[in-house]
Amino acid sequence: MKTLIVYYSMSGNTAYAAERIAARIGADTLRLVPTKEYRNKGLKKFLQGGKSVLLAEKPPLEEYDVDLSRYGHIVFGFPVWAASFAPPLRTFIAAHRGKLRRKQVSAFACQKSSGAEKALKALRKLLRIEAFEVEGVFIEPGRKKAKETDAAIDEFGDALIELGAGNRTGQPLHRRVRAAVRPVSRDKLPTISKDKLPSVSREDVRKYFSNWNYRKHAKFCTALYLSLYAIDMTVSYFICKKMLDKLD
Ligand SMILES: Cc1cc2nc3c(=O)[nH]c(=O)nc-3n(C[C@H](O)[C@H](O)[C@H](O)COP(=O)(O)O)c2cc1C
Repeated sequence: MKTLIVYYSMSGNTAYAAERIAARIGADTLRLVPTKEYRNKGLKKFLQGGKSVLLAEKPPLEEYDVDLSRYGHIVFGFPVWAASFAPPLRTFIAAHRGKLRRKQVSAFACQKSSGAEKALKALRKLLRIEAFEVEGVFIEPGRKKAKETDAAIDEFGDALIELGAGNRTGQPLHRRVRAAVRPVSRDKLPTISKDKLPSVSREDVRKYFSNWNYRKHAKFCTALYLSLYAIDMTVSYFICKKMLDKLD
């Protein structure tokens, strides 16, 4: 089954992941390029991109040559924008909705910190599917080039290869690959045993405050406040004096 990776990438992270997967599994790639590229610098980059997501824009794309009937499997790759997928994918999907209906679909998202889950959900909704065959989340793979992320991208590719085998036996495979945001297993989390915590009962707290020497406490606070006030006034006096001397 031939695979096509359709992706958009503004600053290279998604492109890095897409090309790595393609090289591993022997897939073709199609990079979507808006005719009017988004700003990729400064605050405007986020404002323009965020607005495009919010308005569910379909930015016009530069012409591409693809025969979707040659592919049984489409993998979408995208950067997470405002917890959604980057809008160029919306343009592509709108243009090929009919043909996509008969394909197996997988997807991976590249993000800085969070939002990929929501973005993948939004893409599933747009494609009107329950689940992707294989789903991946990678943390800025091109920029950070961490071994862990590369391994997760390769794992994603291997899951796609496995999916090819699964098809031959007619067994669908749903697998999720997450990189760098891999959850830590519960037994690796530090535990605090209960008996190491100091036991304080309500009665202890009540006793402590009933023995509270309010008069002594008030005297201490007043003395502290007056001392700080005196220090503040003295310092201010010397600063003002110095400034006035200079003016003379
Ligand atoms: C307009 C815009 C919105 C973004 N929103 C998010 C976000 O919600 N969550 C996140 O983790 N990263 C967000 N990012 C960062 C990108 O998802 C991240 O840098 C990604 O790896 C970029 O992929 P690319 O190099 O292929 O464009 C945003 C970036 C842009 C430009």
